[in-house]
Amino acid sequence: MAIPTQFLDELRARLSVSEVVGRRVKLTRKGREHLGLCPFHSEKSPSFSVSDEKGFFHCFGCGAHGDVISFVMQTESLGFAEAVEKLAAEAGLELPRATPGQREAEQHQSGLHEILESATVWFEAQLRSPAGRAAMAYLTGRGLAAETIARFRLGFAPGHGALRQALLHQGASDAQLAEAGLVKPSDSASSKSGGSRDAFYDRVIFPISDRRGRVIGFGGRTMGDAKPKYINSADTPLFHKGKLLYGLAQARAAAAKLREVIVVEGYMDAITLSQAGFAHVVAPLGTALTEEQLALLWRLADEPILCFDGDAAGERATYRAALRALPLLKPGKSLRFVTLPAGEDPDSLIQAGGAGAFSAPLAGTRPLDEVVWQLELGGRKHDTPERRAALAERLYARAREVADRAVQDHYRAAFRRRLDALFHPAEKKLNWRQPGRARGRRDLESAWGRAPLGLTVRADPNAALLVQDRILLALLINHPTLLLAEAERLAELRLATAPLDRLLRELLNVAVSGGGLQTTGLASHLSQHGFAELLGTVLGRSVQRLAPYSAPGAASALAAERLAEYLYMRHRAAGVMPESGLAGGYDPELKDPGQKGRVA
Ligand code: UTP
Ligand code: MN
Repeated sequence: MAIPTQFLDELRARLSVSEVVGRRVKLTRKGREHLGLCPFHSEKSPSFSVSDEKGFFHCFGCGAHGDVISFVMQTESLGFAEAVEKLAAEAGLELPRATPGQREAEQHQSGLHEILESATVWFEAQLRSPAGRAAMAYLTGRGLAAETIARFRLGFAPGHGALRQALLHQGASDAQLAEAGLVKPSDSASSKSGGSRDAFYDRVIFPISDRRGRVIGFGGRTMGDAKPKYINSADTPLFHKGKLLYGLAQARAAAAKLREVIVVEGYMDAITLSQAGFAHVVAPLGTALTEEQLALLWRLADEPILCFDGDAAGERATYRAALRALPLLKPGKSLRFVTLPAGEDPDSLIQAGGAGAFSAPLAGTRPLDEVVWQLELGGRKHDTPERRAALAERLYARAREVADRAVQDHYRAAFRRRLDALFHPAEKKLNWRQPGRARGRRDLESAWGRAPLGLTVRADPNAALLVQDRILLALLINHPTLLLAEAERLAELRLATAPLDRLLRELLNVAVSGGGLQTTGLASHLSQHGFAELLGTVLGRSVQRLAPYSAPGAASALAAERLAEYLYMRHRAAGVMPESGLAGGYDPELKDPGQKGRVA
């Protein structure tokens, strides 16, 4: 529902920012403002200021800035509407309802909430009654303390009909009970049961709540061998499995504070972890993670940690979650993965070895790109060119699934680096900066050394290579069509320094991914991706002076010819490089004294 602006203004007018902020941050008055330690970054001296007059907070340290509503959104991981609702309640303002229809729907919903709350209270009472003795023994037998049982509001549903009786007695109707998912139509409709039977009976009850902690459904576990082991409420107007996370209400504060959230598979895993001190833990409701659940998780933390069993099913679940997340990634927003020993879940680990048994796997999380890499590598062979090409294609196809352009580029680059490391392990050790002993040097001079550059290789061939590589990059940026034309051979190069090499990979990424092949577009893309400074050198005047054919206005045919020369030289130099000759480095004896220091 859209909230009218007047209402928001009224809300902001009624609340003082310093009061709302002051509940979380110790503020001291300084003139017209309040000062404190910024809650959004760690600092020792206060640079966080709050102005009631202006209605804003501002941090001079990290730039965090906003009003009461955004403060509550950020510190409590609430959505806009939720934050407004919360603040409105505090300010004693009633949220405006647009139409009578909406008001009626609200009332209907709050009726359902009441029934679900009554059921929860009743289940909790049953657990503590004589009828619930076995259920209580079951829960304590699974290591749960009384406080934990209370915190998660665990309960017990005894035999048939009891819940319905109790709630009808409290004034609920069968229709309401059905809508709340507490009773189901019965096959053998008798007049006594009103044609309904309890959805949950003879099970331990796990209430499932929304983000604000209102119960909206239940899970029930058998204490014996009944199948299925767990049953859940069917979807109701309030309860949508795919949009919820079990334990979110209990986890939210801890998660917001740590900016971290752990996702486990089962209710018991979440509860046991929480009891063991990992309060920032949630679980989906027995299904694979949905987009909505990922969105909820990303509001709590940049990199939610997904925890799966180390067996085949856990591996499948890991891959499924990774592929679900891939299209949704944003700069900074990803997932990390923990794989537990096969056959263990967080609950069993902690029962056996205490909290430490879970900290260990938690310390070894894997990033998402590694999971996707392993999915595609997956025990296959990559011993022929065709298989290697197929692997590369699969990986680049995965990278293309990332909708965000910047993240996509970096996925492609990450896969390219992994492919390079996999296919050219030896070349990584070679020092390409050194030309070959005899011929490499001459090649340099004949192709790009003397004639075309007007530059003679000077005493240090490394310096010459550096200059040549800058020229190469300038040429490619100023004549971007050459990038695509020679992409393959360019990809095989290793440039003189790691930053120059990364710049080349980034250029190739853009070109290969069909990114704009315009000089200005390329330059701004590079600047945005951390190459601004390097770009200054590459496109600087000294490079242009040495190699006019690399300049923007130069004839493209000439640029193409020079590029061909360069590639010929570099590949030939690489091809003739004997490995033994590299170990000792450059041999000064081989310098041609006649050319030393000569610059034409
Ligand atoms: P598991 O079968 O891994 O159970 O199901 P668990 O969490 O280890 O449970 P315990 O330790 O035996 O009590 C993981 C989750 O899948 C859902 C539940 O949400 C459960 O917590 N599930 C499982 C169902 O919905 N139905 C089932 O029959 C089984
Ligand atoms: Mn378990």
